[in-house]
Amino acid sequence: MMTILKNPSKILHLCRKWASDLDFMKLILLLPPLLFIVYVFFCSVSSNPFSYLGVSVHSSASTTFSITFANQTERIRHIEELNRSRIAVCLVGGARRFELTGPSIIQKVLNVYANSDLFVHSPLDDKAYKLLLLKSARSIAGVRIFRPQPMPETESQLRVLTAQNSPKGIQGLLQYFNLVEGCLTMIQDYQNQNNFTYDWIIRTRVDGYWSVPLGPENFIPGYYLVPPGSSYGGLNDRLGVGDYNTSVVALSRLSMIPQLDSAGHRQLNSESAFKAQLTTQNVPYLTMRLPFCVVTDRQYEFPPSHYGVPVAALSSRGPLSGAKCRPCTPACTGSCVEPTMSILDKGWSWTDWANNSIELCDAHTEWESGWEKVFDRVAGKKLAAARKRIESLKLDQCVKEFAEMMNKTAHWEAPSGSEICSLGLLNSPRS
Ligand SMILES: *[C@@H]1O[C@H](CO)[C@@H](O)[C@H](O)[C@H]1NC(C)=O
Ligand SMILES: *[C@@H]1O[C@H](CO)[C@@H](O)[C@H](O)[C@H]1NC(C)=O
Ligand SMILES: *[C@@H]1O[C@H](CO)[C@@H](O)[C@H](O)[C@H]1NC(C)=O
Ligand SMILES: *[C@@H]1O[C@H](CO)[C@@H](O)[C@H](O)[C@H]1NC(C)=O
Ligand SMILES: *[C@@H]1O[C@H](CO)[C@@H](O)[C@H](O)[C@H]1NC(C)=O
Ligand SMILES: *[C@@H]1O[C@H](CO)[C@@H](O)[C@H](O)[C@H]1NC(C)=O
Repeated sequence: MMTILKNPSKILHLCRKWASDLDFMKLILLLPPLLFIVYVFFCSVSSNPFSYLGVSVHSSASTTFSITFANQTERIRHIEELNRSRIAVCLVGGARRFELTGPSIIQKVLNVYANSDLFVHSPLDDKAYKLLLLKSARSIAGVRIFRPQPMPETESQLRVLTAQNSPKGIQGLLQYFNLVEGCLTMIQDYQNQNNFTYDWIIRTRVDGYWSVPLGPENFIPGYYLVPPGSSYGGLNDRLGVGDYNTSVVALSRLSMIPQLDSAGHRQLNSESAFKAQLTTQNVPYLTMRLPFCVVTDRQYEFPPSHYGVPVAALSSRGPLSGAKCRPCTPACTGSCVEPTMSILDKGWSWTDWANNSIELCDAHTEWESGWEKVFDRVAGKKLAAARKRIESLKLDQCVKEFAEMMNKTAHWEAPSGSEICSLGLLNSPRS
């Protein structure tokens, strides 16, 4: 109950490698570190201040672990500890459907722990004006809205990364990596200016819809925490929680590529590059089911094939662990879910559906007409109000609210509010 497994993911990683590797020389080379890890695994006694957290193996078939609190008192103690900690929340990506996701992020992530600061890194486009919803976040440390530029592609990047399954090729990956690492740079600049270091960094996406607050069991010193499923041959990269040191490794998505290159990694997608970052730097990771999904406008075949993508109904019970979702009348519920989800490849787009957590949408066409009603019913009055506010937002109100948000932001780097608002609210069809 009270044991802390020092490096469980590494053990599984090595065991898998071992099992699939018939080269006996390699086996002999692997044995000493393996024995050492087995020693650490069974013999170490924890000396960390969080030792009241029990980390237990949840399922030996996958790298799913869970943290258990001895009792409610311990849970509250951990929340109090987190309330005293300094937490940076890094929000990256385009604002697409932010009128649906933004207010849930504020309620369920940003305003949960007392000392959380928000950092936003987002490209300028005709949806960026929706970011003004962040005005009601308690503490905004940095906002950077930038004009996207093509990134130069280095030889090392071309060797390490693959364009396969990335809609915009290697350029798309680099743009995404730049979004993530740029957020880390913002955090580090802010730390240097204010002479402190964050205890924790939560990285998540602008398009995440949160149904339940991010719980204290997700903050585990020395481990990087990611959701299970949607792993595409690596690790689910739609959210990460870690202490400062593990987060630096996890968020250094561009600057770590030369190291992946020298370690011999080739043809990686985003998820497998992410996993390689952690394993090459010996950062142990854990997976934990998390109560958010990624709201998408994209269309996917239904029912999904072996490598297809399931799209969860926003009304699913959850946790959805970052699976794709949309507001819909579910097309597959109850006894339909198991046969449909069992077809999916476990190491690819599969997501955990145990405990009736998922109901599926038929997402092969556009969002259904009347999706607004579905959303409002699921999300509740407050979020419905925010959705409607954005739907009927006028240009001058938008400009005014951007000014208010800028006023309460410590470090602001963005085009003018009138440019951001005009781009979205003048001469362009709303969605
Ligand atoms: C909760 O667990 C801690 C040990 O971690 C123990 O000291 C305490 O008495 C427990 N409290 C209750 C109410 O059981
Ligand atoms: C932690 O901080 C949050 C937000 O400020 C507050 O609502 C909550 O009551 C605090 N919890 C504890 C256990 O102190
Ligand atoms: C930064 O903080 C450290 C330790 O808290 C202190 O020794 C140092 O003087 C501070 N530097 C500045 C520039 O405030
Ligand atoms: C984080 O890294 C720094 C520098 O590498 C090191 O001095 C420090 O002890 C590390 N902190 C923790 C909590 O591991
Ligand atoms: C399923 O739900 C039950 C009760 O709600 C809970 O105790 C159990 O841990 C859940 N199992 C999984 C795999 O999430
Ligand atoms: C900016 O903030 C200050 C105090 O926090 C307030 O007095 C002022 O009216 C604000 N300006 C705008 C444009 O919101």
